Amino acid sequence: MAGAAGRNVLIAGATSAMGIAATRALLGAGALVVAVGRDEARLAPLAELGARPEAADLSDEAAAALLASRLRADGVAIDGVLHLVGGWRGGGGLAGQSDADYRVLEASLTALRHVSRAFDEDLRRSPAGRLAIISSTAVDHPRAGGANYAAVKAASEAWVRAVADGYARSDSGREPTAAAVIFRVASLAGLEDAVADAYVRLWDAEAPSINGTTITVDTTDPDS
Ligand SMILES: NC(=O)c1ccc[n+]([C@@H]2O[C@H](COP(=O)([O-])OP(=O)(O)OC[C@H]3O[C@@H](n4cnc5c(N)ncnc54)[C@H](OP(=O)(O)O)[C@@H]3O)[C@@H](O)[C@H]2O)c1
Repeated sequence: MAGAAGRNVLIAGATSAMGIAATRALLGAGALVVAVGRDEARLAPLAELGARPEAADLSDEAAAALLASRLRADGVAIDGVLHLVGGWRGGGGLAGQSDADYRVLEASLTALRHVSRAFDEDLRRSPAGRLAIISSTAVDHPRAGGANYAAVKAASEAWVRAVADGYARSDSGREPTAAAVIFRVASLAGLEDAVADAYVRLWDAEAPSINGTTITVDTTDPDS
């Protein structure tokens, strides 16, 4: 099996423009896509594209575990996770960084923790597991008015690097085949197809060469 063809890829938070772009790119590359969101109606366009829709609140640990069991029971072993659950709240300088906004943003990290754990065995057993998040250049250049957001993204990046460490530890005697990658963008608008293609291209690289790496996608990227 070469590239993304034939891989089972779960898009966590698939109903945004980014989710639609990733679904199109993955289906175009011959992957099977499981599109996850909280709202069945918002998943309908993804089903029309050819994805398997799955309604689940991924900030609920039990719901994420149930989703993994449901897919396994159907014989779907996940090879890829593209985690998109995000959101933006900010502004108003440091004084504007309310606890309420932080709690909303933090749900994306919680969902990442649940999804990466629920599918850890699948990804590690896959001949080519690929997990990725979309983070922000704000992690290296945080603004006072985006402190909540940058802090959650920084924590998400740390979580992904820990996932990468787990992937690098082969417990089966074979070379590790899974990779966890951080994509960073300054702004996603207009870059959805470039990020989707960059995710699909992760299957063209050997896992150890990309595991734990951070890839900034911008409009000047000649591969975008
Ligand atoms: N926009 C930017 O400029 C920018 C910049 C840097 C990084 N990023 C990151 O890029 C990623 C993708 O961005 P985006 O704008 O597509 O993200 P988004 O709209 O915030 O989230 C994607 C989808 O996640 C779903 N979702 C939210 N909570 C969920 C939950 N608990 N369980 C399951 N699904 C849930 C939502 O769909 P439902 O409401 O249908 O459930 C939503 O459509 C995010 O992580 C974002 O932070 C974006």
